[in-house]
Amino acid sequence: MVIFPLMKIIILLGAPGSGKGTIAGRLSAGGGACRHISSGDLLRDAVKRQTAAGAEADGYMKRGELVPDELVARMISDLLAGAAGDCTLLLDGFPRTVAQAQMLDAAVAAGGAGLDMAILLDVPEEILTDRIAGRRVCPACGAGYHVASIPPKAEGVCDVCGAALVVRKDDNPETVRNRLAVYRVQTAPLIDFYEARGLLRRVDGAREAGLVADDLRRLLA
Ligand code: AP5
Repeated sequence: MVIFPLMKIIILLGAPGSGKGTIAGRLSAGGGACRHISSGDLLRDAVKRQTAAGAEADGYMKRGELVPDELVARMISDLLAGAAGDCTLLLDGFPRTVAQAQMLDAAVAAGGAGLDMAILLDVPEEILTDRIAGRRVCPACGAGYHVASIPPKAEGVCDVCGAALVVRKDDNPETVRNRLAVYRVQTAPLIDFYEARGLLRRVDGAREAGLVADDLRRLLA
């Protein structure tokens, strides 16, 4: 994996349900200078298309565990190979372990670039579980909603493409408990990892999504 130096590289850190996908989606809406890369979306797409990577990842995702580092790194690498240019990359869900962060460091260094920032969306755990319980997603275009805080105009119907909204397979209570536990043990250490390098910025992610997105726009300006 090589990352080209013209890109600005921003890592979005945060627990499941902290709003990484929602906020990155707002920042990259309209095909602006921001490109949103979600490792979770890439993996769900691979599962849906029944690729070899998808078949390997499926069981881990159903259990709420992380898929092996090498598999994720390979997928991200394939995607970045065609992504040279003067844009900002918003990495959502990758890296997720210290080993993945080290792989990313090596890729960035190989391209002569550097990481710009790691932004932590800080959200208390009781809000995370409520957000995940109310999440609805569009299986056709990927748009995300929340039944109470970010509802679609017509209940159960995607505003963008009109498809029927669904609950994500890994949003059941048991898997969510495991995802939160996995986050605490395997991903939260990245907070100290990036803080020690002076790259960490904390944003209060418990506020209304528009306010959170505004904070990120200011940080990226
Ligand atoms: P992934 O898809 O990355 O899931 P996650 O990190 O658990 O994050 P979520 O998608 O649950 O939450 P989010 O922070 O994006 O929140 P959202 O914006 O949707 O990963 C899924 C699985 O894939 C993993 O468990 C693992 O198996 C595998 N995987 C992925 N990457 C991997 C990697 N690098 N290594 C290994 N395995 C990997 O918001 C949540 C809800 O809240 C929505 O309903 C939304 O509408 C609502 N909402 C958002 N913001 C606000 C707000 N400010 N106010 C009110 N409501 C809000």
